[in-house]
Amino acid sequence: MAKARLQFICRECGSVQSRWMGKCPDCGQWDVLEEYRASAGAGKDEQRGEAGIATAADAVPQAMPIGEIDETLVARIPTTIVELDRVLGGGDRAQETGDRRQETGQRTGTSGTTAKAHALPSVGCSGLVPGSTVLVGGDPGIGKSTLLLQAADRLARQGRRVLYVTSEESAQQTRLRAARLGAHADELYVLADTNLARIIEQVRRVQPQVLVVDSIQMIYKGDLPAAPGSVTQLRACCMELCYLAKASNVAVFLVGHVTKEGQLAGPRLLEHMVDTVLYFEGDRYHSHRIVRAIKNRFGTTLEVGLFEMSDGGLREVRDGGGLFAAEYRPMSGSVVCPVMQGSRCLLVEIQALTATSFPGSAKRKVSGLDSNRLAMLIAVLEKRGGLRLADQDVFASSVGGMKVGEPAADLAIALAIAGAHLNRQIGARQGNEARRHEGTKGKASTVPGKSPRDATSCLDASVPSCLPPGICAVGEIGLGGEVRHVSGIEQRIREAVRLGFSHVLCPPVAMKPPAGCELFQVRSLDEALQMLN
Ligand code: TYD
Ligand code: MG
Repeated sequence: MAKARLQFICRECGSVQSRWMGKCPDCGQWDVLEEYRASAGAGKDEQRGEAGIATAADAVPQAMPIGEIDETLVARIPTTIVELDRVLGGGDRAQETGDRRQETGQRTGTSGTTAKAHALPSVGCSGLVPGSTVLVGGDPGIGKSTLLLQAADRLARQGRRVLYVTSEESAQQTRLRAARLGAHADELYVLADTNLARIIEQVRRVQPQVLVVDSIQMIYKGDLPAAPGSVTQLRACCMELCYLAKASNVAVFLVGHVTKEGQLAGPRLLEHMVDTVLYFEGDRYHSHRIVRAIKNRFGTTLEVGLFEMSDGGLREVRDGGGLFAAEYRPMSGSVVCPVMQGSRCLLVEIQALTATSFPGSAKRKVSGLDSNRLAMLIAVLEKRGGLRLADQDVFASSVGGMKVGEPAADLAIALAIAGAHLNRQIGARQGNEARRHEGTKGKASTVPGKSPRDATSCLDASVPSCLPPGICAVGEIGLGGEVRHVSGIEQRIREAVRLGFSHVLCPPVAMKPPAGCELFQVRSLDEALQMLN
């Protein structure tokens, strides 16, 4: 066996060093270098291990004009789980066109076969890219194996051969799970093994179009003197599987574990090597699951896939617009915000709570929101809104585990904090009513800008709310306390109205409000604070 060279590899950026150092010289992180034993013979072409032998792709690559490259070789493979395909990325337009054609076909009475033929996957449709590697991460028990087994079954039902390698369960245990999920397609092959060489041997024998490795942490390469799951093993196994994917055009799903800190175990390293990283968000104690792409070489990272865990596995939630505001009840400290996630708008309930503390030791805690953004909003509320929060603990969260990072949620977060602090819920005061009724329903109106400097004075009227509770808020807040325009405002408003909100608090917009909706356009935080009653 070739003698292994001792090197040190950075867990964060994957850089290789010849000696141990406390700080990685490439990424600047402390205590991230780990021992790595590279095989001496691997120096020349490290990728060409078992995978290199497995494929006869020894031809020297030739440069060619971009127009002559055959793109049909990478025609995407839709898993037909729409929520998964959405995060895997691709030309949604192509698929939409396909869907529309199919609909038109049905409407015009075209035969089902013809309609289906129109909707056949094209280069532009969304799904897996052949030859790519997709790393799926998430907490234990969140549903990684379930989703991949379901996806494997769907792919196999399309006549595509899938090899599902289980390194954590036996083949019988996987069969048991598959029975529960109704996954028994003929083209679905299962292999229970942990040795990389044997796995690649089976890939050569079975010749699948899609390979699932569940999980990469348990796979080992026999000639490496390191335990499965160590950086040495992970790096070598992942590299060989990536090479196998590229050389033989097999799409590879890898399952990666997550550490207590919520990071993929070992693996910033793996993230750099694979093409796509999908991550399960959400609370495993709730039934819904969110799948988000945090890296995607072949698509956007803005889209999320929504699922619900049921007795029969993960169920897609295609119309999840109201999923994260389903339990919303108007109360102080709770405001709903229409949030864009890629092409889709989701209504998310934002909650906040303030509690007495001491200046200098007040806590600021977030769940699902950006803590830096929260600190900025608290400062703006203090300085521009006249609220005293220096001696208050502030807690803010997005309900249901949905991560909300976009500044468009600023207004909702600020109103939730102010509402919690003042014990007032969002709704217009009577003083606003005259102005509000200047326009008929379905028209935009503006909140009167009454001497907005002193927020306390604008909040002190103890008149009852005159608005129904169905009000949501969207807008970015600047450091000057101004409420700024946000992208996709029309789509957000339309979605809010579709899901039953009759009033939207937003920055000035040119659009005509949809029927049954009234817009309250605010230019500053002060004006918005007047909506708290
Ligand atoms: P699993 O896919 O094994 O999680 P991971 O691979 O991410 O560790 O999911 C296990 C959880 O899902 C477990 O808590 C049971 C639940 N589950 C269902 O509720 N219904 C099902 O049909 C299946 C297969 C699992
Ligand atoms: Mg699992």
